[in-house]
Amino acid sequence: MMRLKGLPVVEKESSVKGLGPGFWPFTGLLTLLAIANIYFWAVTPLSRWMPTAVTVATQIDELFRVFLAVGIALFIYILGYAIFFSIVFRARKDDPPDALGVQIHDNHKLELWWTVLPTIAVILISWASVRVWFPIQIASASTPAGLVVESIGHQWFYTFRYPGINGEVTGNMHLPVGEPVTLNVSSEDVIHSFWVPAMRLKQDMVPGLINVMRFTTDRVGRYRIICTEFCGVEHGVMNKQYLVIEPKAQFAAWYHSWQVKNATASNALPQISSAPIDLSDGSAAAGQVLFSQKCSACHAIAPFSKRIVGPGLKGVLHDPAHPNLLSGKPATPANVADILQHGLQGSYGQMPTQVQNALTDKDIANLVAYLNSLK
Ligand code: CUA
Repeated sequence: MMRLKGLPVVEKESSVKGLGPGFWPFTGLLTLLAIANIYFWAVTPLSRWMPTAVTVATQIDELFRVFLAVGIALFIYILGYAIFFSIVFRARKDDPPDALGVQIHDNHKLELWWTVLPTIAVILISWASVRVWFPIQIASASTPAGLVVESIGHQWFYTFRYPGINGEVTGNMHLPVGEPVTLNVSSEDVIHSFWVPAMRLKQDMVPGLINVMRFTTDRVGRYRIICTEFCGVEHGVMNKQYLVIEPKAQFAAWYHSWQVKNATASNALPQISSAPIDLSDGSAAAGQVLFSQKCSACHAIAPFSKRIVGPGLKGVLHDPAHPNLLSGKPATPANVADILQHGLQGSYGQMPTQVQNALTDKDIANLVAYLNSLK
């Protein structure tokens, strides 16, 4: 029991006996509410409010209903008892002003139960989650890819690539119903997110990285695609495009129309220039801004040993302890530019290329100028 130094503590013997009058009938009432709640979630599919577009959505909904049933049941008991005890054991008018309630501590039996029960609950919840998640995220890596589609995030819209269609498809994303789909998502500029609530799946779109979503389309319809990663001033309106799931014949017609429309479109991706980059007019100020956008997720402006993903880059061009870069070449502006251009694959990790990082030659000149300015 906590005692304040110098103050006498009056420990008042409660006039309320045991757990208080009406504890067991009240527990019965809470139990009825909890059972009604569990029954409600057992018979109510979430698709009543949210349509499902793909097969995994139903599995995720089932998991979510288990969590809702258990979570709300716990909420009913915890809040119910909190209200009940705060009324039954409230301070009475004839209590001395400095009275403390009955102090309970070192109840090993109680402590054992409140450790064991939540531990079992967490294990059961993890088991239920992994059971649903494993086939979606891990096992499906070895199952057939089905139709492979790409989506690329831009400020502030999505484009799509389909096998057999030149260039990029704009507007809505179409898929045939009843087909397994592998959707590779990435970004051209900043981090976006690909979220279709009706799929219950969401994936970050990161420049230089391909994230994979796997699902089987299940229901014909139009489902909104929403960006859920703050990506600039128009992030809030990056929700105007739809995933259109349609019968195979309709999809084939749509697919053919884009084949015709994009017949002469270029598939060319940005190329890594073969010539060395002209570093003569790089701007350190512009490079600093670019560094915070494109590099700081993996590199700190700190000494070499301050590793995030890659090494710290402060003084990379002026560090007597590291006269050579990780490429093995001397630390010169031209050799740093070479790594920015072609990337680097080594024991330390992987640095993406100029194209993967969406850097222009001018961007590289600016970044090198910035790095060179850090002593
Ligand atoms: Cu794109 Cu937010």
